[in-house]
Amino acid sequence: MASTTVVPPLPPPQPANANNTNKAHLDPLPPSVFTLPQTAQLEALYTIIRDKNTSRSDFLFYSDRIIRLLVEEGLNHLPVVSKTVQTPTGATYEGVGFQGKICGVSILRAGEAMEAGLREVCRSVRIGKILIQRDEETALPKLFYSKFPPDIASRYVLLLDPMLATGGSAAKAVEVLMEHGVPEERIIFINLVSAPEGLKFFTGKFPSLKVITGWIDEGLNDKAYIIPGLGDFGERRYCV
Ligand code: URA
Repeated sequence: MASTTVVPPLPPPQPANANNTNKAHLDPLPPSVFTLPQTAQLEALYTIIRDKNTSRSDFLFYSDRIIRLLVEEGLNHLPVVSKTVQTPTGATYEGVGFQGKICGVSILRAGEAMEAGLREVCRSVRIGKILIQRDEETALPKLFYSKFPPDIASRYVLLLDPMLATGGSAAKAVEVLMEHGVPEERIIFINLVSAPEGLKFFTGKFPSLKVITGWIDEGLNDKAYIIPGLGDFGERRYCV
């Protein structure tokens, strides 16, 4: 007689961590800050990349999944215009089309890790780069290198940096973009993990720029690492 296998019912979906950050650590959230929906799925991705025992290949794979979600969310904030098309059924569909050109700008080196995620969704997107480091004499963020598309002033800029700690480098990057003619309101900053201190400083300085962040953590330690954070993003991504 054939035996039947009893498949246990799936457990009910779990809510994302009730402590989640947005409310716990930065209340109220500035209106220019948008987080990804804080689902259990997203929290599971973050749990993997935060784990110090996660292998480099898993870190790459799962951080790429989050980056893809962030880029898609960033694109949701770009303007569209009405567009009407004919469908193969002969019907007319009144939809929308993309308006305006975009480019990515990665803050080196960790921001480079987000370029592939942007290219996956925006084929042949132009990408600029900017290198900012701490000036040993003044202890302030200093521009060391930048290369932008020549028409950057007429584009929306997706500024890419995975970790927003003090906000110093990101703020310097925005100043450099504005010196190149990019209006503040055409910059969308995309990052994986933010510290509330950095977010407060950055959004206070640039209130009309939008920030898309995956997760807002508890704070910074005395070495300006985000807590609980995930360690040094560049090290985990590029070094074995
Ligand atoms: N940059 C990182 O890579 N990690 C931090 O925690 C802060 C800045």
